Amino acid sequence: MPKVLIATEKPFAAEAVNKIKAELEAAKYEYEFLENYTEATQLHAAVADVDGLIIRSDIVDEAVFNAAKNLKVVVRAGAGYDNIDLKAATAHNVVAMNTPGQNSNAVAELALGMMIYMARGMYNGKSGSELSGKTLTLYGYGWVPRFLANMAKGVGMKIYAYDPYISKDLMTQDGVTPLETVEDIFKLGDYISLHIPATAETKKSINDKLFGLMKDNAIIINTARKEVIDEEALMRAFEAKSKFRYASDVAPDNAAELKEKYADRIFCTPKKMGAQTGEANVNAGVAAAKQIIGFLEKGDKTYQVNK
Ligand code: 3PG
Repeated sequence: MPKVLIATEKPFAAEAVNKIKAELEAAKYEYEFLENYTEATQLHAAVADVDGLIIRSDIVDEAVFNAAKNLKVVVRAGAGYDNIDLKAATAHNVVAMNTPGQNSNAVAELALGMMIYMARGMYNGKSGSELSGKTLTLYGYGWVPRFLANMAKGVGMKIYAYDPYISKDLMTQDGVTPLETVEDIFKLGDYISLHIPATAETKKSINDKLFGLMKDNAIIINTARKEVIDEEALMRAFEAKSKFRYASDVAPDNAAELKEKYADRIFCTPKKMGAQTGEANVNAGVAAAKQIIGFLEKGDKTYQVNK
C-alpha cells in the first residue's frame, strides 16, 4: 500500500485536509500529516518511508531526497516550485510536479485587495484614489494575472501585460494589451503587478533600472516572490520617488527599515497568504493528491516540472 506524506509548515484548511484524506483513502493509500513543523529534521524523519510527498512552500532539498529512500513523486500544491531542488529530484529519480491554476484565484483576489488598500491610503481615513480608469500592468501572464485581469476589467482598469513565454493572442483575447518589453511594464503602470517566478534569471531582476522608469506615484503589488526584488534598489526607489508605494505578500528582508522610514507607503502581509483560502487549499491539495495517485497508478506525469 503506497504511503503519502503531507508536509505543510503552513497547514491547509481543515476542509482541505479532510478532502485530501478522502482522496487517499478511496485509493487505499496510507498517509501521514506533518503540520506546523519547525525543524528540517522533523521532515527528514517523516519522509523516510513514503512513496509520495505533498508540500506547499516547504523546502525540499538534497537532504530531504537523501532521507526519502522510497520517494517517487513530490507534488507542490501550488504554482511556484522554487522551493524544490529539481536537479536533486531528477538525480534521485523523483518526479516533481506543481498544480498550476489551482490556487490562482485566491492570489489574484489578494492582489486586487492590495491594490484597493493602497489606493485608499491603507484605510487611513484621508482622501485616496480609485482604480477605475487607471492603468494596470501585469509582469507575467500565467494563471494569477489572467484571473486578476478579469477582475480588474470589472473595476474599469486599462490592462497591459508582458510575458515572453505566453502568446500575445491569448492576452488580446482576454482584452489585455500585450507589451513588447519589461521596461514598458514599469513605464506605463499606475499599478504594476508582479507575476514572475523566482529563478536564477529573475532573482533581484527588479532593479534600479526598472524602478527608475516608474511614474512617481506608481504602486507595485508583489504577490510573486520577494526574491525577484533587488531590495537595496527598492529602498532607493522609495527615496527617489516621493509617492511610490509597495505592497507585498511576504515582507522584504529590509522591511523593518522600510517601514520605519516610509510607514505610510509600504504594506507587507505577516506571512505569505495569497493562497490562504479554504477554496484554494481544497483545489490545490486535492489536485496534488489526485496527481500522486495518477502517477503511482498509471504513470501520469502531467505537470511534471523536472523534465
Ligand atoms: C504558490 O506558489 O502557489 C503560492 O505562492 C502559494 O504558496 P503557499 O502554498 O506556500 O501559500
